[in-house]
Amino acid sequence: MGVSAGRFIDFSVNINPLGTSPSAMDAIARLDPSSYPDPDSGEIREALARMTGVAPGQIVVGNGSTELIYLLAHTYLNKGDRAVILSPTFGEYEAACRLVVAQIEIIHSKEEDGFRWDAGGVGAACRRIHLLRPALTFLCNPNNPTGVYLERAAVAELAAAAGDGLLVLDEAYISFVESACPDSSGLLEMGNLVILRSLTKDHALAGLRLGYALCPPAVADALVMGQPSWSVNAAAQAAGLASLADRAHLSRGVACASEGKRYLDGALRALGLKVTPSAANFLLVEVGDGAEVRRRLLHRGFGVRDCASFGLPRHIRIGARAVPECQKLIAALKEVLGRAS
Ligand SMILES: Cc1ncc(COP(=O)(O)O)c(C=O)c1O
Repeated sequence: MGVSAGRFIDFSVNINPLGTSPSAMDAIARLDPSSYPDPDSGEIREALARMTGVAPGQIVVGNGSTELIYLLAHTYLNKGDRAVILSPTFGEYEAACRLVVAQIEIIHSKEEDGFRWDAGGVGAACRRIHLLRPALTFLCNPNNPTGVYLERAAVAELAAAAGDGLLVLDEAYISFVESACPDSSGLLEMGNLVILRSLTKDHALAGLRLGYALCPPAVADALVMGQPSWSVNAAAQAAGLASLADRAHLSRGVACASEGKRYLDGALRALGLKVTPSAANFLLVEVGDGAEVRRRLLHRGFGVRDCASFGLPRHIRIGARAVPECQKLIAALKEVLGRAS
């Protein structure tokens, strides 16, 4: 497209705008790749246990949280078993459920409700889950691509409705939620909840693949049984450990993304665009023809996510970056949409 890589600014991914922690980069540089990785990811599980207060035996580390999504589907769904997905959301839940030929039931949120499943309370979603009795229910919180965030009480209601089934609570973007968010790991006591987290977004380790699950002990054992040996490579473990220790880098990245999101939110609304209120580090924006707007922005050196694959062809998703970069995107978007101000 004639855009040099150095000039391209990527808003299509929702990753820490400051990039990977320098101490993680040092850890990778010091790595001896001739040795096998620790097959149990022991050190990183210990570090995560200290951070979350969850016992190491209840923590499963995966080759990205995507591996854990597939492991959950393989472990808990047989052909024809029901899985519920609260949508629109991250596509890998459905892909994993399809692979095991599960019967997929979608609970849609409505655009007029701001894509919230809890408009008027989560009661309706709970009743549906209770009736369907799914083996697995997937809830992304905050949700990709809408940024909708359900408070702890609503999540607890959904877990209660799931009964004997598991509620998979994907918190890939939880570090970016600004509202003082009480740690959801206390919900593990309910016994049927699995919390998925990822170091892809907040610690910018997308290329190394590192995620983890906090789960009841029996679920952890079952997931580990199904996991291929040495699934989590040595570079991911070393960089993950260093990243978890670098809290200052994470805080700076989260603050930078928050500032960028606030600026984008105001500027997009000033352009007359409909923006879904988001608790995460990205914004869902209605632009009319998402694919066309994405294409035109690409020609100007900007990446945004066309949301057609989420079933939202009129929307794009914009990941927050530093304010000066966001200002450039808004200038390009004005040109693309043909708006003067
Ligand atoms: C909600 C959600 N969960 C999980 C993932 C995958 O994360 P990982 O890179 O850890 O596999 C993504 C990535 O886009 C995501 O948006």
